[in-house]
Amino acid sequence: MTAILGIESSCDETAAAVIVDGSRMLSSVVASQISIHRKYGGVVPELASREHLRQIVPVVREALLQANLGFKDLDAIGVTHGPGLVGALLVGITYGKTLAATLGIPLVPVNHLEGHVHAVFLEAAQAGRVPELPAVCLIVSGGHTVIYEVREASGGTGLFAYRRLGGTRDDAAGEAYDKVAKLLALGYPGGPMLDRLAAKASGAPPIRFGPTKMKGNAFDFSFSGLKTAVLYHLREHPEYAEEIHLRNEALERGERSLEQLLPLCSPQTLALIREFQDAVVRDLLERTVSAAESVGAGSVLVSGGVAANSALRAAFEVRGKSMGTATYFPSRALSTDNAAMIAAAAYSRFRAGIFADASLNADPALALA
Ligand code: KG4
Ligand code: ZN
Repeated sequence: MTAILGIESSCDETAAAVIVDGSRMLSSVVASQISIHRKYGGVVPELASREHLRQIVPVVREALLQANLGFKDLDAIGVTHGPGLVGALLVGITYGKTLAATLGIPLVPVNHLEGHVHAVFLEAAQAGRVPELPAVCLIVSGGHTVIYEVREASGGTGLFAYRRLGGTRDDAAGEAYDKVAKLLALGYPGGPMLDRLAAKASGAPPIRFGPTKMKGNAFDFSFSGLKTAVLYHLREHPEYAEEIHLRNEALERGERSLEQLLPLCSPQTLALIREFQDAVVRDLLERTVSAAESVGAGSVLVSGGVAANSALRAAFEVRGKSMGTATYFPSRALSTDNAAMIAAAAYSRFRAGIFADASLNADPALALA
């Protein structure tokens, strides 16, 4: 039995989790900083580092408590060393290094993106399933929108090998959600609210977004044009101004629930949100499916914060069925940033003997492939 403590602090979630043998989840604790960054409409790096410092010790303690284990029961520590915010990453790395040295156990460096891939395998393992390789994995969050081919690495190490097939040339999909929500005065982060409001839309959209044409790599994405199209549409139609003003006032009063914001949205706004979401989902689906076909993928994996989106899940599931290709998502809790995925990714690296020494540093632009 191998018990690994995972530590994640790359962005605005301080997280710790204990995973046994790479697949049995004993605990997964996430302290979100959303309430701190909300008033700035995005993650403020200095505040994120400071909050990680405050949270790291209690979060790790809670993860061990929930797992009913002590520090001495741990066999290794897996820690995210990139990509992400350098100051935020350093908190987890420094804590992980110190703890590993004190306990005399290995420290396993984990790429955050590999964590998102492993979130899918971890979730599948809970149901006794193993996604067929080669797979294509779409990682779609506030910081990333990228498609990888996932294969078994040569040499029988049990590690995965990755090939980057495409990715966003500008904004990540989650970033586009957040920016459009900001334009419409619908709070931060915008994804979950737009997801729920889109489901309330009926009637024709006030604008249609055609498919984004990409020169060069057909598996690349671009979402900034979509955001700009929404911006221009709002500017050209002054009738949106009044409701945006009212929603901004509601947000200032701390009223940010669906029940509070829905009555302040006109049918036109709801239809606009649905059209935006349809355009994002269509693009993510079509490019990922084409990528899967091009490599003859046995399964399609979708991970990252935006993988929590209901329309995205439904669209991938329907297409997966019609293509006869299994589609895998993590649970919503494992889709957004967490440390269970880091501990799961650390397990295969632990078995392959990939350990970090005291020189391990944060790598804000760490690539997976
Ligand atoms: O993976 P994550 O927790 O953090 C990183 O960005 O790495 O993802 C957060 C992003 C935010 O942009 C948020 O708006 C988006 O995921 N998101 C969603 C949904 N839930 C979270 N976007 C669309 N629909 C959702 N249900
Ligand atoms: Zn992430």
